[in-house]
Amino acid sequence: MNHLSKKTTGIFISEDEKTFHLQTEETSYIIEVYREYVTHLYWGKRIEHYNGLMQHRFRDRGFSANPDGSDRAFSLDTLSQEYPSYGHTDFRDPAVHLQWADGSTVSDFRFSDYKVISGKPAPEGLPHVYAETEGEAETLVIRLKDQLRDAVIELSYTVFGKRNAITRSARIINEGTSSFRIQKCASVNIDFRKDDFDVINLPGAHERERDMERSSLGRHALSLESRRGSSSHQQNPFLTLAEKGAGEEHGDVYALNLVYSGSFKAIAEADQFRNTRVNMGIHPFDFSWLLEAGEAFQTPEVVLVYSDQGLGKMSRTFHQLYNNHLVRGEHKGKERPVLINNWEATYFDFTEEKVKEIVHAAAGTGVELFVLDDGWFGKRDHDRASLGDWIVHQEKLPSGLSGIADEVNQSGMKFGLWFEPEMVSPDSELYRNHPDWCLHVTDRRRSESRNQLVLDFANPEVRTNIIDQLKVILSSANIEYVKWDMNRNMTEIGSPSLPADRQRETAHRYMLGLYEVMEEITAAFPHILFESCSGGGGRFDPGMLYYMPQTWTSDNTDAVSRASIQYGTSLAYPASAMGAHVSASPNHQTGRLTSLKTRGYVAMEANFGYELDVTKMTEEELSVMSNQIKAYKNMRATVQFGELYRLQNVHEHRCYATIKVNGDQSEAVFLYLHILNEANGPLKRVKLRGLDPHSSYYVDGLDAVYDGDELMNAGVPVPYPEGDFDSVLWTLKRMSS
Ligand code: DGJ
Repeated sequence: MNHLSKKTTGIFISEDEKTFHLQTEETSYIIEVYREYVTHLYWGKRIEHYNGLMQHRFRDRGFSANPDGSDRAFSLDTLSQEYPSYGHTDFRDPAVHLQWADGSTVSDFRFSDYKVISGKPAPEGLPHVYAETEGEAETLVIRLKDQLRDAVIELSYTVFGKRNAITRSARIINEGTSSFRIQKCASVNIDFRKDDFDVINLPGAHERERDMERSSLGRHALSLESRRGSSSHQQNPFLTLAEKGAGEEHGDVYALNLVYSGSFKAIAEADQFRNTRVNMGIHPFDFSWLLEAGEAFQTPEVVLVYSDQGLGKMSRTFHQLYNNHLVRGEHKGKERPVLINNWEATYFDFTEEKVKEIVHAAAGTGVELFVLDDGWFGKRDHDRASLGDWIVHQEKLPSGLSGIADEVNQSGMKFGLWFEPEMVSPDSELYRNHPDWCLHVTDRRRSESRNQLVLDFANPEVRTNIIDQLKVILSSANIEYVKWDMNRNMTEIGSPSLPADRQRETAHRYMLGLYEVMEEITAAFPHILFESCSGGGGRFDPGMLYYMPQTWTSDNTDAVSRASIQYGTSLAYPASAMGAHVSASPNHQTGRLTSLKTRGYVAMEANFGYELDVTKMTEEELSVMSNQIKAYKNMRATVQFGELYRLQNVHEHRCYATIKVNGDQSEAVFLYLHILNEANGPLKRVKLRGLDPHSSYYVDGLDAVYDGDELMNAGVPVPYPEGDFDSVLWTLKRMSS
């Protein structure tokens, strides 16, 4: 058993008791093979040795059917399972739903065998959390077999011992001689033996993304889903079950994050006996996959994080995991440049001269990267043309991209470029030549959104064309950053490249195609820093982060809106993954007026940049901008890669406060944003967190030295606000310990 073993984390198996104990440094996840079924016993705070306390208990329940007629107490309807199938006495939402060649949809998957692998095998063609060395992770693969047909399901569990995270996925294999259909295959299922949970999720809309919501799980199923062909602005593939009363720094929380960028569904279903089933994966709606004899289907994976210290510790666990085991390539762990993007400065209305003016005005302020956004290609003077024609707009940019890039480089900055590779404008050469290359259903109307159609990335010919075009452009100038946009969701989801009986595979095959394209392009240009974007945060998910280490957080650049958007985003995703820019006031999305100071401070919470017309800024504003950039560069490592503690949230406190603390607790960055002011208001204090209680810190905003314990236990006095949206950003530096 585990106590005799030298290792302290990983997979511990008891052949006698038929249990699999998955242990990280701080968590345990226990599976038992019970009467041949693969069942769930426990997920939570680490238990050193499992001695059988969580054994299954049964009663004869009315209207719960029995697979074994001689035992009226035993029913799958009340059994906690790891991957329940449909049709044999479990009436809850199944993890897997298959249709066999005879049309029937009942299956009965039971334990077959298992193996343990050092490290983590990569799921082919899908983004995933990875282990760099075999010692970082251990993987358990449990095989289940259907009792009638030659079909196998492999459940993979990878334990990241030091990171306190477990990943799960499923693989369905057709070992028979006839094909069958997968109607649903979740990536994960967990049956909790309690229902006193709140569900925390990240709903939203375009320009209002990831607005954290908490609702009590009643006696019903609650589902979070996207049917849009992308992970979406409307829901994020993230679900947390929080015990009642659990908060930012206390209580048990259980989080699931799907590593996938397409349509998904997560359900939390409280059953009649006050247990909760959670499953999550590719959305089964309008999905069906024909699995021929000998073929296998791999689901995306889900990251599981348990925290016994509330949402704060949960988020820090995700951040560490994603910074170290999801993001790849040359930019992993590297400080991200301060950029200026011309979008909100010019929209489509720019000339080469205007671009150069922006470049020259920005150059003196310390900006490190200039990004030329939408409008540089084809005949793109508005959003009605040219997506798909990735050739330079010569009338707008007579010196071409290399001319602009040289100018930018000579001004001491790097050059970055915007693309929207997955789209086509009906008014484009690409569409005129290949009208069948977009997602569509023959003879039906093709609905446009932002005057564009979605290219059929399920079709290899389309992918090759786009890859070739991108390679030409990316090799044509010194391009060191790419913003990869995607500005609509899918309608009329059909692919002429697929036969009739595979049309419902289109949306998932599109995602596999997209992942293939991103893999090829990012591998071919490893020095380029890629930022994904989907009208801002419409595809802010771990799937995209595997290929592109950062994402444009939202098209809403208003500092006050951003406080809530960045707060919600930070539940799962690290600051190093979020783009945050200072834009004009009045803000273009909300019309709100905020000071340059506050816009700067809020944007300094993440990958900092500007998105306004610097040529129109006054000398005084340019000097504020230079000082902001200088200050940001000094604190950048802590901001982008430090440990985040959320101190106050906009909804509860009418103000927003966070602190980021670096790895050795020698530096911290504290942000406080007051929202609406009130007359004769309170004199507030905010308790800091994450500092070393035994060290003294110089707090620049207070120009004084205090001990960590005092700062955390008594809190810092924040200034009485001078008006709405007043803010402070203080750095703390350790003096001694
Ligand atoms: C949506 C993005 O989120 C914006 O930042 C900008 O790049 C536009 N698309 C350009 O069309």
